[in-house]
Amino acid sequence: MSKPIRLAILGSGNGTNAQQISEYFAGRDDVQVVSIIYNVKDAYIAQRARNLGIEARYFGRKDFYETGAVLDYLRQKQADWVILAGFLWLVPQPILDAYPQRVINIHPALLPKYGGKGMYGHHVHEAVVAAGETESGITIHIVDENYDRGTILEQARCSVTKDDTPDTLAAKIHLLEKEYFPRVIDRTIHAC
Ligand code: GAR
Repeated sequence: MSKPIRLAILGSGNGTNAQQISEYFAGRDDVQVVSIIYNVKDAYIAQRARNLGIEARYFGRKDFYETGAVLDYLRQKQADWVILAGFLWLVPQPILDAYPQRVINIHPALLPKYGGKGMYGHHVHEAVVAAGETESGITIHIVDENYDRGTILEQARCSVTKDDTPDTLAAKIHLLEKEYFPRVIDRTIHAC
């Protein structure tokens, strides 16, 4: 049998997506989550990784942008793909160069709307509700050197009603993320 495809997940916060992806692939012999990397000390994603029995590694700004320590680590872990699951920094160019078309992100809105620097997590839902949008959704895309650009792999929609608050919208978005993100990763990594 061929070797499993190895995923490294990068996150910054709560880690629900990282957990869902890890659980989706648990027990599969063709795909393995080899590490969960995080860049915010004390982020709950680290605890989730430990609960899942997956190696969790903290790296700070210098490790990402100056020393190359993150890329060294990805190579050491023999990661084939990098999955951004609530990761809030721009991916350094050397990592993009080492993983061409192999870095995948999820964004909690229908890009190109509500994307770009500073548009992440709750800020996105606040902006969508404030604008009186009647729909929102998720975008799963290949990562390039810009925030929230790159080839779109999948979008999924949900309604936004007059009664929605940023919190209720966030809950709808999390359901879409759970339903779509692991499956789109599965499909994409096997299409190459
Ligand atoms: C998710 O909703 C994800 O779409 C969003 O951050 C949240 C992370 O939640 N990502 C972005 O906003 C990227 N620009 P999680 O840590 O519980 O998975």
